[in-house]
This record gives sequence, structure tokens and C-alpha cells, in this order.
Amino acid sequence: MSDKPHGSGTIEPGDTSKRVGAEVVRERGGDPEEICEKLIDAIGAEFTTYYYYTNLRTHLSGKEDLKEITEDARLEDRAHFELVMPRVYELGGKLPNDIRDFADRSSCPDAYLPDDPTPTNILEQLLEAERCAIRTWAEVCDMTRDCDPRTYDMAQRIYNEEVDHEAWFIELLSRERDDETNPAGHFVRGDPGDSPYSTNNRFNESA
Ligand SMILES: [Fe+2]
Ligand SMILES: [Fe+2]
Repeated sequence: MSDKPHGSGTIEPGDTSKRVGAEVVRERGGDPEEICEKLIDAIGAEFTTYYYYTNLRTHLSGKEDLKEITEDARLEDRAHFELVMPRVYELGGKLPNDIRDFADRSSCPDAYLPDDPTPTNILEQLLEAERCAIRTWAEVCDMTRDCDPRTYDMAQRIYNEEVDHEAWFIELLSRERDDETNPAGHFVRGDPGDSPYSTNNRFNESA
């Protein structure tokens, strides 16, 4: 046996049925299964929001500035799904086999196209979707801050971008609905869906 302090642990050498990457979370007071289930709900919201934002962006017809910002938010939600999906498997879980189950588990309401799809109504829908995302990832940060540095790192990166998204839509809605100046203090992303915080774990250039 090795006399190195981390040369062995609670999992037998060669055992592929368990993961040290999950057990260390438990050893630090976290619950990998609970975190995993929360992550599936959270990326269910990212994935469905990517779909719904496609429709919302499409209906911002003739408003190229609104379409551009909505496209950034849309693509970044896809990046959030892509970033966290592997973590579900690392923690011992799996994606629901049926996309209907996945959508139903979403931690946020469906971002439907409003019956009267005016830019104001669409921006209100976008704003509330971002607020749900902020609350979701803040909760994941709280669950993982002291026990799961890998999930926490992902969640706080996504949280950063969701706060950006809320600021964008507050600025745009304030101008569109109320003719008020309410700056985000931001400028457009360099490329559509740049994902400046959550981009570092992409599988390839298209993700
Ligand atoms: Fe997101
Ligand atoms: Fe977002």
C-alpha cells in the first residue's frame, strides 16, 4: 500500500461503479444525488429556454437591436446546458431519456410567445426568464459553495452571465415600454453568444 495520504480512499482500486469525484462531495457535507437532480432541473430550463428564445427572437421582427441581444442570451443558454451536462454524469446521474420529461422538470416556467407578441410583451417574458435563471443558479451556488468546487465553478460562471442577461433586458424593456434610460453599463458581446464566463469547457468550436 502507498503511504501517500491520497493514494487510496473509500473506493476500492479499480472500482468503476463509484466516483471519487462524487464521494469527495459527500465527504465534505454535500449530497451528490441531490445536486445532480437540481442540475438536471436547471439545465432543463437552459435547454427549453434556448428553444423558446428562438421563437421570441424570431418575433422581434424589424427590431435588429433587440434580436441581437436576444440571440446572445439564447446562445449563452445553450452554452449553459453544454457546460453542465457532463457534470450530471460525473455525479452519477443521467439525462432523462424522454425530452418531454426533461422539459417538464425545468426549474423555470415555459417562456411562451405572448398572445400579443409586441416587443414590450416579449421583453417582459425574457426578463422574467432571466430572473428565474439567476435564482436557480444562485441556489446551486449555495448548495455547492463549500462541498463541490467543480459544480460551484460552473454555477457561478453561469450566474455571472444570467445577471448580464437581466441587465440587458431591464435596459431594453425600460426604453421600449417606458421610454426610460436604465443602463446595463454593457456593450454587445464580441461574437453572438460569446459566453465570456461559461465558454471555457466547450467540446469544440460549434458548441
Ligand atoms: Fe442560462
Ligand atoms: Fe440567460
